[in-house]
Amino acid sequence: MKEASSASSSSLASEIPLSQKVIKVISNVCFSFFVLSVLVVTVIAVTYQPPDPWLQSSSALTSSLSSVLPNSTFHTDDSLLPTGEDLLLSSPSPSNSSSSTYQPPDPWLQSSSALTSSLSSAPLNCSDPRVLAAIRSFNARAFFRGSIVFLSYDAPVAGPHPGECDAAWRFRNRKEKSWRRYRDYRRSFEVVYVGKFRSGTNAAAAAVASPRSRAARPKTPQISADADINDTIPTVGSESQFKKGKYLYYTRGGDHCKGMNQFVWSFLCGLGEAQFLNRTFVMDLSICLSGAHTPSGKDEDGKDFRFYFDFEHLKESASVVEEGEFLRDWRRWDRAGAKKNGRISVRKVPTYKVAPMQLKKDKSTIIWRQFGGPEPENYWYRVCEGRAAKYIQRPWHAIWKSKRLMNIVTEIAGKMDWDYDAVHVIRGWKAQDKKLWPNLDADTSPEALAAKLTKVLRPMRNLYIATNEPFYNYFDRLRSHFKVHLLDDYKEMWGNTSEWYNETMALNGGRPVDFDGYMRVAVDTEVLYRAKTQVETFNNLTRDCKDGINTC
Ligand SMILES: *[C@@H]1O[C@H](CO)[C@@H](O)[C@H](O)[C@H]1NC(C)=O
Ligand SMILES: *[C@@H]1O[C@H](CO)[C@@H](O)[C@H](O)[C@H]1NC(C)=O
Ligand SMILES: *[C@@H]1O[C@H](CO)[C@@H](O)[C@H](O)[C@H]1NC(C)=O
Ligand SMILES: *[C@@H]1O[C@H](CO)[C@@H](O)[C@H](O)[C@H]1NC(C)=O
Ligand SMILES: *[C@@H]1O[C@H](CO)[C@@H](O)[C@H](O)[C@H]1NC(C)=O
Ligand SMILES: *[C@@H]1O[C@H](CO)[C@@H](O)[C@H](O)[C@H]1NC(C)=O
Ligand SMILES: *[C@@H]1O[C@H](CO)[C@@H](O)[C@H](O)[C@H]1NC(C)=O
Ligand SMILES: *[C@@H]1O[C@H](CO)[C@@H](O)[C@H](O)[C@H]1NC(C)=O
Repeated sequence: MKEASSASSSSLASEIPLSQKVIKVISNVCFSFFVLSVLVVTVIAVTYQPPDPWLQSSSALTSSLSSVLPNSTFHTDDSLLPTGEDLLLSSPSPSNSSSSTYQPPDPWLQSSSALTSSLSSAPLNCSDPRVLAAIRSFNARAFFRGSIVFLSYDAPVAGPHPGECDAAWRFRNRKEKSWRRYRDYRRSFEVVYVGKFRSGTNAAAAAVASPRSRAARPKTPQISADADINDTIPTVGSESQFKKGKYLYYTRGGDHCKGMNQFVWSFLCGLGEAQFLNRTFVMDLSICLSGAHTPSGKDEDGKDFRFYFDFEHLKESASVVEEGEFLRDWRRWDRAGAKKNGRISVRKVPTYKVAPMQLKKDKSTIIWRQFGGPEPENYWYRVCEGRAAKYIQRPWHAIWKSKRLMNIVTEIAGKMDWDYDAVHVIRGWKAQDKKLWPNLDADTSPEALAAKLTKVLRPMRNLYIATNEPFYNYFDRLRSHFKVHLLDDYKEMWGNTSEWYNETMALNGGRPVDFDGYMRVAVDTEVLYRAKTQVETFNNLTRDCKDGINTC
């Protein structure tokens, strides 16, 4: 596409910081025309659509992830957490036929001067098509050049003051691997100045409110990024509905309180078996944080699945019921059934050695895998090993990261104008284990990092460092070469004044939720994957092997 090629040829232009770029654009044009133009900018909310084109087959997905997560040797350090949305390793380019790829409609100068001349006489009318045209061409010319595909625009609405309009649009970053769409809101009263992300609140409110109450817009618009997240727990319902269903129930196994990648690996094994057996998977929404990720070093149980993963998406992509609901119904209808038409049939499966294929013909309402025995006999994922691996596909597409976390990711990437490089620096216990990783510690020292990164990255680029190194100042050495960004620079995004804080607290029965190690990893992973250039620890920084000495 034209746009794509111009993006690469003008990549240098896109390195110019936004503010300078805007000033440049403006100074290119006769300034007196634009006394009025201001565009204040905010990325707020996210409209979210199920990914349409799964370009890779699910078996390809599975094998690419299997190489990330080996079977029982969990040498993964949990400093990254890949999920289904990350597996489209090559970013799908927008298809040609799709009309959604935004084409700059008209030259900036033309529409802007048209706008300006209309502005000079009458008060600004946000419904004026020329307002939208000006915003579109502004975006096309000046903003996010090349890296953002603008998908669609809503009609601008009035801002809080006369002469201000708030506009909303959906966009997708070219780097974006999933097809979630993000929604952006900006306030514009004349296009002279581009402010920070997060300001066009009326557009946000209009968009959020529109499905429910178009008429009554709140006086102080409540910016809720996730007014449209619906991750309520589904109920099974009546006795007959319950009995019509077929369930696969895994009791808690040895995976509980292990690392997050093991959780995903095991959970998807169960879900995969349920799909193989054409059954509803009974899932435990309670997650246990391994002590390796908690400040106290102790395991923390009772975390909500929905803090980390997108339960709404899961409900749409797989058949699941929540364990508590399920057990309650089971007990109730079993007791009722005992009196009249018979109890609910259950097949208990004591060991993973009973293969999924042997259960295919079983007609019991519930198949109950029990996972007794010592570790590693009691790991869920053992069900999917061996011959079963040929039959069971892990449904990676069903597990995405929580949209609440993804909102933070989008915001961080947005603060760097989606124009940054990233390095993944694995330290932690691997760096301390000199037997298995003899060079890792030295190769990830500040000096080594500075020497290496200055060779592969251009100077003074935005550099995001995804790392499990806890010491914030560890990377200070790099600051004279790059604009260093660390997750902790964005603390306010989950601090007690953030949307995230409000939303997770609501999910947690009004108690505040810690932004814990798993969440940090999830956000780090996604910000890393969106970088223009990614530098990995293994391969790029050190010749040590990912899984220890002599494994590569
Ligand atoms: C697990 O992985 C190791 C090394 O990748 C391999 O040798 C072993 O056969 C695998 N085990 C199973 C049960 O697939
Ligand atoms: C898009 O168009 C280009 C040139 O017209 C063509 O080479 C390419 O195959 C097309 N891609 C798709 C996905 O249709
Ligand atoms: C704004 O413009 C639209 C379309 O041009 C028109 O329908 C509307 O009446 C105008 N509103 C005001 C307040 O002038
Ligand atoms: C959320 O989704 C469930 C179905 O999964 C539906 O019954 C419920 O009404 C929805 N709630 C809202 C607030 O949209
Ligand atoms: C799966 O189960 C549903 C109802 O539980 C049934 O309608 C459908 O035919 C089953 N599909 C297969 C392939 O067995
Ligand atoms: C938010 O946290 C800060 C510092 O941790 C504290 O001083 C402040 O009182 C908190 N505010 C609320 C509303 O909890
Ligand atoms: C969070 O909730 C508090 C109290 O309900 C509210 O005052 C605050 O504006 C909310 N913050 C955000 C960012 O939504
Ligand atoms: C990192 O290593 C990979 C594999 O060796 C290589 O393809 C890639 O170009 C390297 N990246 C950088 C930034 O050097």
